[in-house]
Amino acid sequence: MRNDTQGRGSKSPSGILDNKFINPAHETRLVVLERRAMIKPTHQSGSNVCPFSRGRGGDSSADASGEKSPVPESACPVSGAARSGIDHARRVDLAGEADSLCSPGQPEQSIEEVAREAWRESVRCIGRLHWKSLQVVDARAVEDADSVFEACVEHLRKATNGGRVIPTQTVFRPWDGPEREVRIWNPQLIRYAGYRKKDGSVVGDPAQVEFTMLATALGWRPPSTPGAFDVLPLIIQSGDELVVRELPEEEILEVRMEHPEHPWLEKLGLRWHAVPAMADMVLATGREVYGCAPFNGWYMGTEIGARNFGDEDRYNLLPVVAERMGLRQERNNLWKDRALLVLNEAVLHSFSKKGVRLVNHHQASKEFLAFCDQEKKAGREVQAEWSWIVPPLSGSATGVFHRTYEVHPTLPNLLQQKRAWETPRGRRLLARYL
Ligand code: ARG
Repeated sequence: MRNDTQGRGSKSPSGILDNKFINPAHETRLVVLERRAMIKPTHQSGSNVCPFSRGRGGDSSADASGEKSPVPESACPVSGAARSGIDHARRVDLAGEADSLCSPGQPEQSIEEVAREAWRESVRCIGRLHWKSLQVVDARAVEDADSVFEACVEHLRKATNGGRVIPTQTVFRPWDGPEREVRIWNPQLIRYAGYRKKDGSVVGDPAQVEFTMLATALGWRPPSTPGAFDVLPLIIQSGDELVVRELPEEEILEVRMEHPEHPWLEKLGLRWHAVPAMADMVLATGREVYGCAPFNGWYMGTEIGARNFGDEDRYNLLPVVAERMGLRQERNNLWKDRALLVLNEAVLHSFSKKGVRLVNHHQASKEFLAFCDQEKKAGREVQAEWSWIVPPLSGSATGVFHRTYEVHPTLPNLLQQKRAWETPRGRRLLARYL
């Protein structure tokens, strides 16, 4: 599954992103005051909003893929109709919506079973053939923020598995009201910082500028010379406790990029982390909602080579690569396509050389079609969002391109969550720490 920065036409982050470059050498207090003024009030989600009902009451426009598929509204399951029509493209806020996501009539299942089913039903994930292999860590008894952090470190250790990445989900306690809310504020367990400079340009990952400012405001000290691949600390909340913790370096497996035919590529100093671990999605089982249940699969090469490295609002490397390749950057001569190909070759080559598991988009496409067959045999129709399933490179050369899919996701599922610092309680909590 790709995260919300990966959808087509992803929006630029809001709020504090627009702030000036935060120089780590600046006094934190100053930064904080500046920041606070920038935080925009967000709308409290009404408790009467039914998250099952597509297109109602949500802020889908503020979202992820930036797409609104023209799917008809369906009735709310809680009021007795079919269990379909979750608006997966919308970010939920459990404070207003947990109740409507849970109905007592749902069968009781083990946490392992529901977590696997949630993956199986994730409409944006091409890797679902492997849903039964998800390893689930039951961390529901974990209480304080530091213990949550330790469990996340443990998650990374197990999931990384020396490069033979294991799909893993760690499930912390379910939502039972805002007082005991547990959340990881990071979008993923491992992400690279983005620092906006005075001239407006960004060092690092532009998608993380806002989060980087947040972490800095909360006391994180970036390296003295901010780099393009500085791993962000985790910001973890348990009740009204908020901690900022750096991950131990030895738990973060990274791959340095090189290209089998272009020695100059290595000199660009590119790298990426081995494990994509979504940290802020909700595991909604139908009976309960878990606002903190980080999970990972392994990467598909294009997520890094095409989107993270190639997108204009991410590392924007196509012009850099094209220049090294000596390509003339004219409008119609496919220089971007050539640069994309080289970047993607580099990713596949480098991961494979280092022995880190990842899948290329052709293989992933085949596996997804096998998953569709498998589901059909099991009496289920696969629910999928075409624009997320079709790889961003060579779409029509993959089988998944040449068909359509139903998009009526059901629970259990994995839902996007309103950013912690944009909820009213998150903002209140933040104000206490700043
Ligand atoms: N696209 C995201 C990234 O580049 C990761 C989303 C999850 N991907 C996955 N293969 N499980 O970091």
